[in-house]
Amino acid sequence: MKQNRPKILVIDDDPKIKWLLSEGLSNSFDFIAATSGSEGLQMVGIEKPSLILLDIKMPEMSGIEVLKRLGKVDVRPEVIMLSGHDETRYVVESMKNGAAEFIKKPFDLKEVEIHINSVLEKSNLKREVTILKSELRAKSQYDSFVGDSPKIVQVKNLIEQVANSELTVLIRGESGTGKEIIARMIHNVSDRGDESFTKVNCAAIPRDLLEAELFGYEKGAFTGAHKTKPGRFEVANKGTIFLDEIGDMPLELQSKLLQVLEQQEFVRVGGITNIHVDVRIICATNRNLEDAISQKLFRDDLFYRLNEITVFLPPLRDRVEDVPLLVNHFVEKYNKLYERKMAPLSENVLEKLMSVVWPGNVRQLENLIKQVVVRGDESVAIDLLVGQSSSAPVPTDPAAVTGVTGSAPEAITNEPPSFSLKKLVSETVSREEKALISKVLNRTNWNRRKAAEILEISYRSLLYKIKEYGLNEIK
Ligand SMILES: Nc1ncnc2c1ncn2[C@@H]1O[C@H](COP(=O)(O)OP(=O)(O)OP(=O)(O)O)[C@@H](O)[C@H]1O
Ligand SMILES: [Mg+2]
Repeated sequence: MKQNRPKILVIDDDPKIKWLLSEGLSNSFDFIAATSGSEGLQMVGIEKPSLILLDIKMPEMSGIEVLKRLGKVDVRPEVIMLSGHDETRYVVESMKNGAAEFIKKPFDLKEVEIHINSVLEKSNLKREVTILKSELRAKSQYDSFVGDSPKIVQVKNLIEQVANSELTVLIRGESGTGKEIIARMIHNVSDRGDESFTKVNCAAIPRDLLEAELFGYEKGAFTGAHKTKPGRFEVANKGTIFLDEIGDMPLELQSKLLQVLEQQEFVRVGGITNIHVDVRIICATNRNLEDAISQKLFRDDLFYRLNEITVFLPPLRDRVEDVPLLVNHFVEKYNKLYERKMAPLSENVLEKLMSVVWPGNVRQLENLIKQVVVRGDESVAIDLLVGQSSSAPVPTDPAAVTGVTGSAPEAITNEPPSFSLKKLVSETVSREEKALISKVLNRTNWNRRKAAEILEISYRSLLYKIKEYGLNEIK
């Protein structure tokens, strides 16, 4: 029985208090004591008490100060103030800083016992509700990431283990493998699940604006900065920020990000004061960051810091056994969305879908099923697949074994037609961009500075793009 008694820490410069409580209530609780605030704070970490009885007036550090510092402890025990001074300002300060009760000395032992029990009961209830909520959230979240192939089970297990840690997660995998869903899932099942999830696509925001977007700016920091604006990191405070396409972050910004990771602090563009944030960072990329590091386009120290946990999402072709599950999931999804009544697809069609290479991965499969449902005819799947070689050799990229792939834009031409408008646009833009850069470089006799000027991009961006499109070799 003894081990089930709640442990209560008494922090009071008067040692008699602990003695009194132990004498009267030792059948119900285990009392331990500290005679100063600093000693008490140390004991919280070591002893992990269920509740603290805290005096207000102590010579070295006041009870209110102890209460404030306790706010920074990870799992903070409940606190009951026990004080000879019950002036309103003390009571208000205590409650404001999170004390659960206020008892005036001299106290009645029975009264203390009732208060302790009621506070502990409430805190147990609170904890149970939190656990239940996160279990519920976890369940629905894991359900929505469809797949039960061994590779996906591994991914789900890893996420379950790391979601609640504060570790930085890097999600890698080809386009359309589900990196964003996984990022949201990690956030939702973590302790921060009720807070905000802020997504920033580092590739979609022009590089000159990215710093202001992420870290905010002060009024007058640059032309057009008419008023101070907080950045995404500030907005994401207490929650999670998802930095998508992290491989596209310009080098100059990478060092600022590293600083945020290390100190949880940054300065707004044009500002001087440090802003502190409590944000969990999740990143994703389909680039081969190791290559980017060797080309000096990505900082290796940042890579190691981002990479505390790496989730590799395998391409769909390496887990074809998930195809039927995904197909059923998408048929149901679009039946609901478009109020259709498409029946599950036949074995024959499923088999065909399982033999496809799926360069666009799950996104491509989803788009295909969407069209099948909208048109209400499963043979549409086969028609749309015409031209896709079911036995086409998969590009042999050694990194693909671990699910890491570089996305060389040249390889896009070998791909079967994509059904995604977004992908089509990005491919077209890349192709046009490459042609234009190449033209300007040739016209300037490969004078990179001049070419950057004509193209109206920074010199650095140009070097980056030359590498990215492999233009050096063409020279
Ligand atoms: N396992 C899965 N279960 C259900 N839906 C999935 C799964 N994986 C991917 N999807 C769906 O496929 C689409 C693409 O997923 P997502 O946007 O997460 O991919 P991504 O890896 O971030 O791609 P990109 O690198 O192109 O940004 C989304 O509509 C997503 O809902
Ligand atoms: Mg994505």
